[in-house]
Amino acid sequence: MEPLVDPFARAISYLRVSVTDRCDFRCTYCMSEHMTFLPKADLLSLEELDRLASAFIRLGVQKLRVTGGEPLVRKGILTFFQAMSRHLATGALKELTLTTNGSQLAKFAAPLADLGIRRVNVSLDTLDPAKFAEITRWGRLAQVLDGIAAAKAAGLKVKINAVALKGFNEDELFSLLDWCAAQGHDLTFIEVMPMGEDMTAGRLDQYWPLKDLRARVAERHALTDLAERTGGPARYVRIEETGQKLGFITPLTHNFCESCNRVRLTCTGQLYMCLGQEDMADLRAPLRATTDDAVLERAIRAAIARKPKGHDFDYSRQGVAGQITRHMSHTGG
Ligand code: GTP
Ligand code: 5AD
Ligand code: SF4
Repeated sequence: MEPLVDPFARAISYLRVSVTDRCDFRCTYCMSEHMTFLPKADLLSLEELDRLASAFIRLGVQKLRVTGGEPLVRKGILTFFQAMSRHLATGALKELTLTTNGSQLAKFAAPLADLGIRRVNVSLDTLDPAKFAEITRWGRLAQVLDGIAAAKAAGLKVKINAVALKGFNEDELFSLLDWCAAQGHDLTFIEVMPMGEDMTAGRLDQYWPLKDLRARVAERHALTDLAERTGGPARYVRIEETGQKLGFITPLTHNFCESCNRVRLTCTGQLYMCLGQEDMADLRAPLRATTDDAVLERAIRAAIARKPKGHDFDYSRQGVAGQITRHMSHTGG
């Protein structure tokens, strides 16, 4: 089978599957407070998601990340992980993992580890309970910390994702670093992206370029650039004093699109070829039109042939350019 290669000669080996657009939090940079969610009837069933994801795996996808919304609020989600774990068993998938807000991990960490999940990315922007409640609107820090502890106890490697927000978690840079070092978690900072409809002045004021953040860390620690990659967009450094790994996801200050290897499937079967563009391909129609997988595979190839060069996010002219009205929760980042 010919591998999936896009018009810019990038091989597509990483699929992010958003299994629900719903979430038990309302993070301010991700959702508006009053979200309208997709009608449940529009969702693909877990069997349909399986058929679609399996088609991508036949076409060469080796890394599958389950996202949301919050993936662990989707009913029956363990059934989906169990189904996907068969591709780990055959060796077709090298990694099956998820990105979660951590709220349900106390319940799900052990069963996920049993199904072959080795690593989990948990979003956590602050260790201050009041600030956590403010940024997530609905979240409770203690519940997430319990979830993270459960993940560690189940043997899962934890990577903390923190969105770098000026005036919000700037003062927690070292407390987050030290807490992660003490707990044995990796930490990755992310530049805030202009997505969602609530894009007035706020986003630009919050933007904290990661080259500034890195310079701040370098005042206290010796940093060594690492060549190692996890297959995602992060670039890593090692903090020499602690051996800790620190990642940077820099859609704004350093565009990493030239090495993009991923596409995103939504819970209704839309395929977004780029996080930062509006174009998408409907895979639900070919999925439901026939049981012939060859039709589905042709639709996937046709979509990959449209993958754009990259996003157009830009804050450099004192304004926000390239913004996307779609909420981040629609594709799970
Ligand atoms: P690892 O496997 O640990 O490397 O994970 P990952 O970084 O691929 O996934 P994760 O879900 O932890 O994503 C972290 C952040 O990176 C999220 O905010 C995503 O939106 C962002 N991100 C992932 N892929 C892309 C991309 O192609 N473009 C942009 N602009 N951001 C991305
Ligand atoms: N900019 C950057 N990262 C974001 N995330 C959600 N919204 C944004 C945004 N506007 C992050 C979450 C989570 C990941 C899936 O995406 O914090 O870690
Ligand atoms: Fe939910 Fe994650 Fe979006 Fe926060 S960032 S609202 S936890 S999907």
